Amino acid sequence: MKRRIAVVNGPNLNWLGKREPKIYGTQSWAAIWGALEKWGRRNEVDLDYFQSNHEGALIDYLQDASGRAAGIVFNPAALAHTSIALRDCVAMLPVPLVEVHLTPIQKREIFRHHSHVADAAAATISGFGPDGYFLSLALLKHLLQLSSPVRGP
Ligand code: DQA
Repeated sequence: MKRRIAVVNGPNLNWLGKREPKIYGTQSWAAIWGALEKWGRRNEVDLDYFQSNHEGALIDYLQDASGRAAGIVFNPAALAHTSIALRDCVAMLPVPLVEVHLTPIQKREIFRHHSHVADAAAATISGFGPDGYFLSLALLKHLLQLSSPVRGP
C-alpha cells in the first residue's frame, strides 16, 4: 500500500490567516501545513499539497493525484456548494477522499448547508478548524490500514 496522501485546498484557502479571521481563524496555511508535515513524518506518511482557485485545475490535480496517492483530503471550499463537475470527479476517483471544512457548514448560511461532494466522499469533517485536516488524515490512515509501516518483502 502506498503511504502517500494528497491534501488539496480549493478557492480562497491560500488566504487563510488574513481571510475573514473571525470566521476562518488567524492561522496561516503555511503554519497549518508545517504541522501537517510533522504529522506525516511521525506517521511515516508522505504528504503532497495542492491549492487552486480554479475548478478545472483542481479536477486535473485530483485525477493525477489519485494515481500516486492512497487517499485524498480535500477542502473544496465554496465549490462544494456549486460544482457538479467536482462532485463527478470525486465520485469516479479510485481512492478514498475525505472532505473537510474548517467551519461548520451546516450551521452557517443556508447556501452552505449542501455539499455536492459529500455523498461521493468517504466522509465529511466540518467545523473543527485546522484540526479537521488532522482528523481527516487519521481517518484515512485508519481506512487505508496504514497503521504499521510495510517493511521487508
Ligand atoms: C469552507 C466553507 C465554505 O463554505 C467556504 O466557501 C470556504 C471555506 C471551510 O473550510 O469552512 O471557502 O470550505
